[in-house]
Amino acid sequence: MRIRDMQDEIIRLKKEKDVCILAHSYQAREIAEIADFMGDSFQLSVMAQKAPQKTVFMCGVRFMAETVKILSEDKRVVLVNPLAGCPMAEQIEPEMVEYFKQKNPEYTIVAYINTTAALKTVCDVCVTSSTAVKIVRKIQNDRIAFLPDCNLGDYVQKQVPEKEMKLLQGGCPIHASVTVADVENARRLYPGALLLVHPECIPKVVEMADYVGSTSGIMEYAKNSPHREFIIGTENSIAEHLQYICPDKRFYPLSKKLICPNMKLTTLVDVLNALKGEGGEEIVLPPETITKARRCIDEMIRLGG
Ligand code: 13P
Ligand code: SF4
Repeated sequence: MRIRDMQDEIIRLKKEKDVCILAHSYQAREIAEIADFMGDSFQLSVMAQKAPQKTVFMCGVRFMAETVKILSEDKRVVLVNPLAGCPMAEQIEPEMVEYFKQKNPEYTIVAYINTTAALKTVCDVCVTSSTAVKIVRKIQNDRIAFLPDCNLGDYVQKQVPEKEMKLLQGGCPIHASVTVADVENARRLYPGALLLVHPECIPKVVEMADYVGSTSGIMEYAKNSPHREFIIGTENSIAEHLQYICPDKRFYPLSKKLICPNMKLTTLVDVLNALKGEGGEEIVLPPETITKARRCIDEMIRLGG
C-alpha cells in the first residue's frame, strides 16, 4: 500500500468511526498530515477537551494519552503505539514526592506534564514547557519544588528569580545529550542562522540560544521571523515540519542526537491498525487516580491559558 493510499484510508475510517486523532509535534510528517490536530503538550491537553468525537487517538507518548483520559474521562482514549513511553515520566516515584512533602510542607509541588498519572496525584500543579514560566510566576507561594526536569526548572528559576525553587534531579535524555560543542559546531557550519532551543536542553546550551521555547513556540518563532536560516535545538522532526511549512527558509538540526526513539515508534500502519480495532491500547485509569491527577491538570489549564 502506498503512503498516500494509507492516509486516505485512515481519513475515511476516522470519519466513519468518529475518531479524533491528536499528534504531538514530534510525530512524523505523514502522521501530522492525517491528524485532526498537531501541537505541543499544552495545546494537546486543551484540544482533547474540545474534541467533539467520543474516541481520541494519541500519536505521541503514554503520559500524553493519560492526560487526555484524565481530562476526558468519558471518552475512549487510545495510545496508538503502546510501547511509546517517555523515560523522563518514569524518573520520580509518588513515594519520593510524599517523602519530600513530609520534610518540606511549605513547598508547592510543580510537576512537568511529562510525568505519570500516578505521580500527578501527589503534586499541586502541572506545567508544560510553554506555560511553566507563566504558571510559576502566578503561584501564590514563593517556595516551589519543581520536578522532574531540572533543566526546564533551571530555565524557569532564571525567568522567575523572585521564587525560591528546589529542583529535583531528572530530565529528558534526548535534549540533555546536546553539548556546548554541538552548538559551536552548528554555529560554525551555519554562521547566519538563529539558534532556537527547547528548555529541556542543559543550561549552558540554553544560554547560547537566540530563542528558547516549547515545540510550538519554536515553530511559531521560526514562521514569523524575518530571518531565513535557523538551527533547531529540539527533536529533529520540528526542523522537518518547518521545512515543509516554510519552503523558502532553511532549518538545520542542532544535533543528530536529537531523535526521540519513543516519539518515532508510531507509524501510519499503527494508526490504521488501531482504527481497525487491531492495535493500540485503550488507556484505563482508576477513578481515584483520575480525580486526584485532574486537580493539577485543571490548575495548569486555569493558570496557563
Ligand atoms: P512540548 O511539546 O511541550 O514542548 O514538550 C516537548 C516534549 O519533550 C514532549 O515530550
Ligand atoms: Fe520524553 Fe524527551 Fe522523548 Fe519528550 S523528547 S517524549 S521528554 S524522552
